[in-house]
Amino acid sequence: MEKISKLQQARKQYCPKLPGSLTDGIKSLEIVEGEKTRAVRDENDIQNIFKNVYGAPIVSFRKGGNRQIQRRNVGVILSGGQAPGGHNVIAGLFDALKAANSDNKLYGFLSGPSGIIEGNYIELTSDIIDEYRNTGGFDIIGSGRTKLETEEQFEKSLNVCRKLDISAIVIIGGDDSNTNAALLAEWMKAKNAGIQVIGCPKTIDGDLKNEQIEISFGFDTATKTYSELIGNICRDARSAKKYWHFIKLMGRSATHVALECALQTQPNIALISEEVEAKKYSLNYIVDYMVNIIVKRAEMGKNYGVALIPEGLIEFIPEMKTMISNLNDVLAGATGFDSLTFEKKCEYITSKLEGNNASVFASLPAIIQSQLLMDRDPHGNVQVSRIETEKLLIEMISARLAAMKKEGKYSGKFSALGHFFGYEGRCAAPSNFDADYCYSLGYNAAALIEFGLTGYLSSVRDLTKPAAEWVAGGIPLTMMMNMEKRHGQMKPVIQKALVDLNGPVFKKLADNREAWAIEDCYLFPGAIQYFGPSEVCDVTTKTLCLEAGCCCCCK
Ligand code: FBP
Repeated sequence: MEKISKLQQARKQYCPKLPGSLTDGIKSLEIVEGEKTRAVRDENDIQNIFKNVYGAPIVSFRKGGNRQIQRRNVGVILSGGQAPGGHNVIAGLFDALKAANSDNKLYGFLSGPSGIIEGNYIELTSDIIDEYRNTGGFDIIGSGRTKLETEEQFEKSLNVCRKLDISAIVIIGGDDSNTNAALLAEWMKAKNAGIQVIGCPKTIDGDLKNEQIEISFGFDTATKTYSELIGNICRDARSAKKYWHFIKLMGRSATHVALECALQTQPNIALISEEVEAKKYSLNYIVDYMVNIIVKRAEMGKNYGVALIPEGLIEFIPEMKTMISNLNDVLAGATGFDSLTFEKKCEYITSKLEGNNASVFASLPAIIQSQLLMDRDPHGNVQVSRIETEKLLIEMISARLAAMKKEGKYSGKFSALGHFFGYEGRCAAPSNFDADYCYSLGYNAAALIEFGLTGYLSSVRDLTKPAAEWVAGGIPLTMMMNMEKRHGQMKPVIQKALVDLNGPVFKKLADNREAWAIEDCYLFPGAIQYFGPSEVCDVTTKTLCLEAGCCCCCK
């Protein structure tokens, strides 16, 4: 019986590339400090909450010196949703620590942040690490969404670290998890605990980015995986000529995933949540927009097509957003709600929702209502992956087309299939880009630790250049924070990066979508290639290339 696939065997041999500054290890590094930093918004509140770590400078590394490295133990946590490359972050961290001092130890906390609170851990040895190099998934130590925020959780974490003689913790996570990292760093510093906390930017959603962080890891591989599947569906639609495919794509809030996949595959329709919000499109307007394209195509004899729907769409439709925000507050204050029947829940909710919100809620099909009433995640987010927006749209469009048919305004055939691509992409074997980027982020995290920094996010920049030219360094977490409402209360959080409607990536879609709607301009990107010519295997996303303004093939 084969224990690992042929591809896994071959992939084991892959040596991830590092930024030039890190190739001699963390012993031979110098740090370059930039200006002091400020929070992106709500400066006073953020400074008050993070009195001890606020305002640190951006740093970068360059080769130089020959440092004596003291032995140390480090802990690592995988937090939140899976993203391809997490194992390589851990491998990079492990290799950097061991190369610096072979007595260094790396502990992996199990099942996310709860592992450090409850003292569930394993020591990561080279045998374990070698098994997971260049593989997808977070199964090396598991992940979880526990929110680290209470005094009791911090005390317990400190005790566990003391027991294991851990002097630094690396939290690999998205915006919410790195908010946890900042809170923990502040608490440890206030207590003079001698424990540093470093974050690593992870999420397939691609919304943990800003002027300093070009992209979170996993976005490259996940969007390539979805684009392969969407391309296959475009080909199927064009072959069979009988179905409209409505494909919901993961990405909780921002539409970066759907936008990147649209540029990769050129479907007939790609909805962008940020545009819906900015232009205040109602649900009815969205349905009209889609119906218009479906009717035009039907008139050309094309009763088929492909539409991409971002997972977070529902929260961006103005009337829905207002209703959901009101609903979140009502749910946060409701006691004994879970024990009610669905009918009673709806009665209670409609009696509590203010103004127009009650009728917006009541206008939705029962299945969507019940999905909106499901538990929020520990960070207070609606679990949009479980809301079947694609089915809601299919239902509304079918009804509209049926009415048009009766009025003699439409004579086509509308047969629609719904898909949801999300979990399929989160544990894919990392592309070469993600394998290199993740390994570098982990290696660099060890450098940040070595220079005594805390409350920083590991950063590797200039990502559209060859890896040897990437710039390694660190960004203070407080620089990315502002205050937002969670569970009905204002909390410090890392600001999510939404799609910039004035940016080059959205412009590329806006300039082309009319043609893509009517003509069949589908592209078929195919599967991720790990071996072969560099222009096929090593290219990153169109999003990154367009944002860097560097890729002639994107123009
Ligand atoms: P992270 O922000 O933790 O990376 O997770 C993002 C995500 O993959 C979203 O795209 C999706 O809505 C959500 O996780 C699903 O969460 P879960 O894994 O808990 O079902």
